[in-house]
Amino acid sequence: MSTFVMRRPDDWHVHLRDGAMLAGVVNFTARQFARAIVMPNLNPPVTTVADAEAYRSRILAALEPGLSFKPLMTCYLTDGIDAAEIERGFAAGVFTACKLYPAHATTNSSHGVTDIKNIHGALDTMQRIGMPLLLHGEVTDKHVDIFDREAVFIDRILSKLVRDFPALKIVLEHITTEEAANFVAEGPATLAATITPHHLDYNRNAMFDGGIRPHFYCLPVAKREHHRLALRKAATSGSAKFFLGTDSAPHAVGAKETACGCAGVFCAPHALEAYAKVFDEEGAMDRFEAFASENGPRFYGLPLNEERITLTRDAQSVPDRISAGGTEIVPFHAGATLAWRLQPSNAAR
Ligand code: NCD
Ligand code: ZN
Repeated sequence: MSTFVMRRPDDWHVHLRDGAMLAGVVNFTARQFARAIVMPNLNPPVTTVADAEAYRSRILAALEPGLSFKPLMTCYLTDGIDAAEIERGFAAGVFTACKLYPAHATTNSSHGVTDIKNIHGALDTMQRIGMPLLLHGEVTDKHVDIFDREAVFIDRILSKLVRDFPALKIVLEHITTEEAANFVAEGPATLAATITPHHLDYNRNAMFDGGIRPHFYCLPVAKREHHRLALRKAATSGSAKFFLGTDSAPHAVGAKETACGCAGVFCAPHALEAYAKVFDEEGAMDRFEAFASENGPRFYGLPLNEERITLTRDAQSVPDRISAGGTEIVPFHAGATLAWRLQPSNAAR
């Protein structure tokens, strides 16, 4: 049985939800990752230091005893966001980054930003204090084809942001296109991207394989095969600009399997194994640790984790459903067999 030892990784983009769902999902992430950037798209969203502190306390209270896990909180940008509040939260170590959702782009984004000009004050502050901006990079213009919304966002919005805020750290999150991979790779050192395990694993055909398959639907939506191949190339390239961000986004099975199903793939339970599958298939296990455990903290200016984890080549099957605090959720790779397994003794401290 072969083993693979690496520095304990972090998840630079996750949805932990709240209430019973939070309690049901957070330990999947905490068993795998030392830290995670926690998305603020609750209802109502996390927009103040007090909101983030209270949410962080609820996350910590839901952890199983013995797990060491540090949630890194984010501030949800709105048209009316207070730049002074952002600065106060960052200085106090409560906010690690700010998240920009274009209004109505995805789940719980109705309070998002309607025009980037409305947050120029906040962006000036973030640039000055070295606080990263995390982007849901899709335009919301209904006239733009859904498969083009990321590429059009890069043209219309991101290219100008990079030009107008040259010292602002920007993470283009959960990239799905060759255009995004190229734009980030060729961009300045202040620009990076996260890539999910699912966008590395399947293309848009998975959503329509013999019928409509809602568990493969997330936003940004999976694209054509050549885009998936470009993402795999970027993730395994060794470039420090690309790092792990699962975008694990749990929704109850009934909220997915319905006439208007929610976007999101619940990939937290076997996230690391799902990434290991991709790196293994690409013959790039030697690049896995940098992607999962080094590039992210270096970009954020945070220390690398010192603990090590072990993956063994020891096949495991992924359950069809996972019960999270009484809610049934279909996980990524449901019903499939994954070749790698994270050793639990190393994940729990
Ligand atoms: C996310 C969610 O459900 O909160 N869904 C998704 O498809 N990724 C929102 C988001 O990150 O777009
Ligand atoms: Zn997300």
